[in-house]
Amino acid sequence: MKEQIEQLLAEVKNLTCKTEKDIEDARVRLLGKKGEITKLFDEFRTIAPELKREFGQKLNVLKKEATAKIEELKANAQAAGQTADDSFDATLPGDIRDLGSRHPVSIARQQIVSIFRKFGYDVAEGPEIEDDYHVFEALNFPPNHPARDMQDTFFVSAGHPNPLLLRTHTSSVQVRAMEKMQLPIRVICPGRVFRNEAISARAHCIFHQVEGLYIDENVTFADLKQAILLFAREMFGPDTQIRMRPSYFPFTEPSAEVDVSCNICHGKGCNICKGTGWLEILGCGMVDPNVLEASGIDSKKYSGFAFGMGIERIAMLKWQVNDLRHYFENDMRFLREFSSCVEV
Ligand code: PHE
Repeated sequence: MKEQIEQLLAEVKNLTCKTEKDIEDARVRLLGKKGEITKLFDEFRTIAPELKREFGQKLNVLKKEATAKIEELKANAQAAGQTADDSFDATLPGDIRDLGSRHPVSIARQQIVSIFRKFGYDVAEGPEIEDDYHVFEALNFPPNHPARDMQDTFFVSAGHPNPLLLRTHTSSVQVRAMEKMQLPIRVICPGRVFRNEAISARAHCIFHQVEGLYIDENVTFADLKQAILLFAREMFGPDTQIRMRPSYFPFTEPSAEVDVSCNICHGKGCNICKGTGWLEILGCGMVDPNVLEASGIDSKKYSGFAFGMGIERIAMLKWQVNDLRHYFENDMRFLREFSSCVEV
């Protein structure tokens, strides 16, 4: 038996079959039900007990070696088969995978945020599903005030004294900032907002805003004007001019709308600025004392300004996009145009 084991061990070591059939034949011959190794295991039962230990070990080694060898030969044959497969042509060009890039609204948001960060503003975020108090009431929109119609609202739970709704502006985050933060406050609030508006080239029911708030002692309208001018020049170029037109918001007094000089025709008049030389970019004003008091801020000691802009609108003006809907259609041809835009 000893010789037989040694002979088989040598045979296993030198086994060199190539095709899958030869390997299978070798497996059956050695390890199959009537294979030679299996036969030795049968014989093993009949040998003298004092020899069992020695032969048992030898037999186990043989079986292990044979199994490992067969596996190795199978793996080699498989690998060889794959490379020999002539349907594989290494010279063909590979599949081109599109590399993703940031969405233009994200790029514009990031640019706006980083400009205000340079001016020392913190960034705050808040819930998209808000309560009436933070979106309207604390901002000087009493119940049934007609100014609520300026922002057609999607209600989540109506008929409650403080109903839940989808925020119509991120001014709600400013209210939360006034409640929580220590004075002075200098904060911007980027985020998604919702208004029940018909979708058109200039309006969408979902869009993005960046709103800003600055509250300290002796903040004046001149500070507001300067902040907006600096922002406009960083965003649209150093020659940009601004103009302010009187406006109305319940939470600011006085209020203004801000236009920037058209960055396409530089004031001469073109179809983007509709011949006026100016483009509207944001709303702003001095925070109404009622709003400060509603959040527990002493309006005799403190004053502040606030502003709010639509990110899509800023992005449309910056990159001369003529239809807001492009931002939400995910047409790759449109999105690819922004793949080389750098973040600041
Ligand atoms: N919250 C206003 C809007 O969404 C914008 C705004 C913010 C106006 C702050 C003035 C001051 O239309």
